[in-house]
Amino acid sequence: MDSPDSVRLVEVGPRDGLQNEPTSVSVEAKVAFIEALADAGLKDIESGSFVSPRWVPQMADSAEVFKRIRRVPGVTYSALVPNLKGLEAAIASGVEEIAVFGSASESFSRRNINCSIAESLERFRPVCKDALAHGMRVRGYVSCGLGCPYEGEISPKAVADVTTKLIELGCYEVALSDTIGVGTPGKARAMFSTVAKEVPTERLALHFHDTYGQALANILACLDLGARSIDSAAAGLGGCPYASGASGNVATEDVVFMLDGMGVRTGVDLEKLVAAGRLISGELGRAPNSRLGRIERRWPALAAAE
Ligand code: HMG
Ligand code: MG
Repeated sequence: MDSPDSVRLVEVGPRDGLQNEPTSVSVEAKVAFIEALADAGLKDIESGSFVSPRWVPQMADSAEVFKRIRRVPGVTYSALVPNLKGLEAAIASGVEEIAVFGSASESFSRRNINCSIAESLERFRPVCKDALAHGMRVRGYVSCGLGCPYEGEISPKAVADVTTKLIELGCYEVALSDTIGVGTPGKARAMFSTVAKEVPTERLALHFHDTYGQALANILACLDLGARSIDSAAAGLGGCPYASGASGNVATEDVVFMLDGMGVRTGVDLEKLVAAGRLISGELGRAPNSRLGRIERRWPALAAAE
């Protein structure tokens, strides 16, 4: 398949990235990061989550973050919501888009949200219904799409089943997630094509962590199959507190560099994006976990000769 003209990028650094940091990041720093990402041209920014503060203390200040973001027209600032209590808080914070998060693995579902897969879907039903009634858009995640930290192998069919159910609940898009970054291109292709038999590819996104350095290859494999929406995190931040050992999401800077080189439009200014990644890395006291963020002198991405 030819490369697409453009893809949608969903920036998850402020949520997936900062939920996993041992050091606490101030509200000011979170807001500055989110604003720098919007300034770089990112149009979809997952900016926090309304989950139990006992489970994920790093996101306990999400209401304050949402209150302080200087919102840029045309940019969507979304949040994770696990239940009706979270939805109530999201509505009170003026959130326009939420994401519910399920799993293809029973064990991960219990560890992450303290219920079975079936119970989670029943829990999401009223969340999706009420969110849609409030005019919000609802996105979904399916964790452990390419492997589970507790169960190992996960079948593509299990991923397809949960994805289909999330679409039925009203999610406009479901992010097929490699929570622990163990996937390789053949496996990613098998998972994506199995799900695509049940759900149109326009409604699927890729959310790949990069533990083993396979995420870009996996993205490319799925772009060939029609994927057009990619999650990533500036500076390669990310990880789930309930999937220990997993590293960050694929770095947005590296995804944009690859897509620039392929002539695929993202609307992102790479210089500003690298600066945003360095800004938050400086806050965290370390170098960015992206290839681009670590290179001092950069050459532009070179496209294929005609
Ligand atoms: P629970 O303990 O079963 O919930 O947790 P509960 O309903 O029994 O409530 C227990 C307490 O939490 C109560 O407080 C509730 O009020 C409070 P208490 O009376 O004991 O003081 N509570 C809440 N507080 C604030 N906001 C809420 C909320 N809900 C309950 N929304 C629950 C169940 C789902 C709440 C919990 O397990 C939880 O919050 N889990 C979230 C875990 C999480 O955020 N994980 C990381 C995000 S997922 C991820 O990273 C994967 C992803 O990136 C894709 C991928 O890579 O795979 C998306
Ligand atoms: Mg994730």
